[in-house]
Amino acid sequence: MSRSWFKNGYQKLAHIFSKTDRDFPTLKGHPAAQQHAEQVLQSHSTLKQNTQTLRKEFKIYRWSPDDPTQKPYLQSYFVDLSACGPMVLDALQKIKGEDDSSLSYRRSCREGICGSCAMNIDGTNTVACLKPIDADTTRPTLITPLPHMYVIKDLVVDLTNFYNQYKSIEPWLKTKKPPPGGREYRQSIAERKRLDGLYECILCACCSTSCPSYWWNPEEFLGPAALLHAYRWITDSRDDYTEERLQALTQDETRLYRCRTIKNCTATCPKSLNPANAINKMKTRHLLSQPVEETEHRDRQAIGQA
Ligand code: SF4
Ligand code: SF4
Ligand code: FES
Repeated sequence: MSRSWFKNGYQKLAHIFSKTDRDFPTLKGHPAAQQHAEQVLQSHSTLKQNTQTLRKEFKIYRWSPDDPTQKPYLQSYFVDLSACGPMVLDALQKIKGEDDSSLSYRRSCREGICGSCAMNIDGTNTVACLKPIDADTTRPTLITPLPHMYVIKDLVVDLTNFYNQYKSIEPWLKTKKPPPGGREYRQSIAERKRLDGLYECILCACCSTSCPSYWWNPEEFLGPAALLHAYRWITDSRDDYTEERLQALTQDETRLYRCRTIKNCTATCPKSLNPANAINKMKTRHLLSQPVEETEHRDRQAIGQA
């Protein structure tokens, strides 16, 4: 039987039911047909209901430099989850593709590798491509830019300072001698293992923008992302500038020591890394290399008693 036959038959039955006479007069004397008609109508209304319950509201932060007098606001979009991929980035792509091409956000890899789609979703910093859509359609999903950052447009924030801080820790291998054999700097398996939990960082900025110390001192404090990378090179067995790197981070009170071990960074990292732990290890390493008198003097300076 052809599909159009089904479609026409379905429409015919729906038409019959739409009449106020619910006895299906034209089907009188055909109880099986009457029963089928009722079943079709029942499933039709269930389908309609299900489609409605699958509509999810997304409230998205909007602001455009093209209209600077307009204050930022939240715009609602409704997405049919039955026709959408499972992640928040899928919903954003659908909204941008089908509803509103003016919506701006960054994205590239859609698999948690590039770090571009970082934003705040329902109060937590994360990357949209790794964040599943909350299937509860009774409440909206709230999407705002990374907190305490200058907004360029909608969900796009200015990361210039963040990248400059990353650059400042000199994120590359620095050596004093050529590689043995002239080809490559080699590591043992154990030395290489020390980089696990550090090299995976995708520089999404979720951690730094969730850190209260970074909110209040974004210029001076390097923030957990840059510090995690600093530790990645400090702990690399091939790097010959460990002491100099540590010294550069600790020559004032702000770059490293503004971390108050609140650990928001570790709690929010979408790659499950532990920047707070890396920061603690650098502090410990630095403190162990300091005479006690110097440490006390620095503590007094920090509380304004020196
Ligand atoms: S542990 Fe340090 S870097 Fe991480 S959120 Fe707290 S203050 Fe910021
Ligand atoms: S440590 Fe985690 S949250 Fe921070 S930049 Fe790297 S991947 Fe993102
Ligand atoms: S699109 Fe690359 S991390 Fe989300």
